[in-house]
Amino acid sequence: MSVNAYERVWMWGAGGLIVLFLAAIGITAVTQAVQPPSHIETINPATLADHPEFGDPQVKTTADGKVVVSMVAEMFQFRPDPIEVPVNTPITFRITSADVVHGMMIVGTNANAMAVPGYVSQFTITFPKAGDYDIACHEFCGLMHHAMVGKITVKGGRP
Ligand code: CUA
Repeated sequence: MSVNAYERVWMWGAGGLIVLFLAAIGITAVTQAVQPPSHIETINPATLADHPEFGDPQVKTTADGKVVVSMVAEMFQFRPDPIEVPVNTPITFRITSADVVHGMMIVGTNANAMAVPGYVSQFTITFPKAGDYDIACHEFCGLMHHAMVGKITVKGGRP
């Protein structure tokens, strides 16, 4: 079978792109922790109000010094709001939804997760600079989607 020279160029080109994209996913996942948040933890959205962690979502520092932010996304707000965390400290965000699918991105960072009812999305991020960061819902969730925002205040130095 003979393949036209141009056809061959495009075949190798397309194959090369696939290899390049897979390499980009693999390398950034390993070196920069750019990866999808886990969706292995399930939760019942109907009983969220009585849940020990998400019934009253808040920022907690665990006994070994880790900072964990439990968040609930719901039409049309994030709880808690505002959120206060320390700078230069790994912060683990755990987020779920009380109603429909929402998005949760921290503007100006690579933190970006889905808030899906029935699941807990988790990721860890370190803020290198103190200041105010906006949280935006980036998944169309209803009439007031555009107003669904939150705030994170990153405070300098450990208390
Ligand atoms: Cu919540 Cu858009």
